[in-house]
Amino acid sequence: MAETAYLTVEDLHVHFQGRKRIFQAAPPPIKAVNGVSFEIPAGKTFGLVGESGSGKSTIARALLRLAPIKDGSVKVANAEVTEFDASDIKDYRAQVQVVFQDPYSSLNPSLVVSEIVGELITEHRGIPKGDERDRMVGDLLEQVGLGRHFLERFPYELSGGQRQRIAIARALSVQPDMIICDEATSALDVSIQSQVINLLEDIQEQTGVSFLFIAHDLSVVRHISHDVGVLYLGYLVESGPSERVYTETAHPYTAMLLAAEPIPDPERQKRRAAVRRIYQIDAEPPSPANMPKGCPFTNRCALVMDICHDEMPGVTEVQGGGTTRCHLHTSGPKLNGASVIPLLLEHSQGQ
Ligand SMILES: Nc1ncnc2c1ncn2[C@@H]1O[C@H](COP(=O)(O)OP(=O)(O)OP(=O)(O)O)[C@@H](O)[C@H]1O
Ligand code: SF4
Ligand SMILES: [Mg+2]
Repeated sequence: MAETAYLTVEDLHVHFQGRKRIFQAAPPPIKAVNGVSFEIPAGKTFGLVGESGSGKSTIARALLRLAPIKDGSVKVANAEVTEFDASDIKDYRAQVQVVFQDPYSSLNPSLVVSEIVGELITEHRGIPKGDERDRMVGDLLEQVGLGRHFLERFPYELSGGQRQRIAIARALSVQPDMIICDEATSALDVSIQSQVINLLEDIQEQTGVSFLFIAHDLSVVRHISHDVGVLYLGYLVESGPSERVYTETAHPYTAMLLAAEPIPDPERQKRRAAVRRIYQIDAEPPSPANMPKGCPFTNRCALVMDICHDEMPGVTEVQGGGTTRCHLHTSGPKLNGASVIPLLLEHSQGQ
C-alpha cells in the first residue's frame, strides 16, 4: 500500500531580494532555493544534507512561511500552506515544531524547565499553569529521558544534551504532526549525538511524528532517515531512499560528500580516497546571487562535460528510487539513473 504523504513540497523556489540603495540598480535576488521537490510520508523521516549556505534552513523556514516563497507548492495533510491566512498559519505552526542547533539560545534563560516546556501547553492546549500542567511536563521530561527533578532547573544548569532534550520535550508538548530538526544534533559530542538520535527514533515509533532532519553530514542522517535529499546551492541534486543514495549514488556531488567521510572498512575507504582525489574539493561554489548558466557544480566536478557549462540539468529518475539533476544520466555516458561510482573509479584510475 502506498504511504500517505504528510508533507509534499513541489518545485519550491525561495528568492531573497537584496536591499536597493539610493542611485543604484536593485541587486540581483539571492536564489536560495531552486525548484526543490520532496515528500515526507506520515511517521517517516526525510534527511536533508548540504554544505553551509546550500539552503537547508531556508527550506525549513519556507515550510513554516517564514521565508519568501517565490513559486511552488507546500502541502501539509493535503492543505496548501502557501494559501494559508494568519489564523491558519498560527494553527499550522503549532503542528510543525522546530528544534534548532543551539538550544541555549532558543530556550529562554530566565525561565525554569516547567515554564519552558509548559508554555506551549497553555498557549495551544489551553491548560493553565498549575499541577495538571506540571504533571504533563513531568511526563514529557520522562519521555525524553530526563526525570521530573528537572522541572525547576534553569537552562544554564543543564548540559548541551540535556538542553536539547528539553527543546525536544517543548516541541512534543503540543503533540505535533512534524518536527523539523535543524542541525539539532550538530553541536553535540558524537556519543550524545547518537543518544539524541536514538531518542528521536523512539519518539517517532511511539507517536508517529514525521521528521525533517537537517544536517551537514550524510553519516548523521543515514541512521535516522528513511529518505534523503542532497542540496547544492539551493538545488536538490539527489534524493531517494536512504540506502540507495549511500550505495548506488547517482550524483557526483553526493559521491564527493560521501568520499569526505571516514568509514571503518579499509577496502571502501581506499575507493573513497580514490574518488576524493579527483574532485576540486577546495574550489568555492558559485554565489547564489550570481548563478552560472549551466550546472552549478561544474568547477568542482570530476566528470564535467561541455554541456554542463551551458545547460542546467533537469530532474531525472534514479534506478532504485528518487531523482537526480546531472547530465551524465542523459548525455555522454547516459547512465539512465544508474550509480555514478563505477564511472568515478574508472576516472580516478586514469588520472
Ligand atoms: N534573510 C536572508 N536574506 C538574504 N539572504 C539570505 C537570508 N537567509 C538566507 N540567505 C541566503 O540564502 C542562502 C541559503 O542560506 P541557508 O541559511 O538556508 O543555508 P544553510 O544550508 O542552512 O546553511 P548552514 O549549514 O550554514 O546553516 C545563503 O546564500 C544565505 O546567505
Ligand atoms: S551536470 Fe555535469 S558538472 Fe554537473 S554534476 Fe553532472 S557531470 Fe558534473
Ligand atoms: Mg542552516
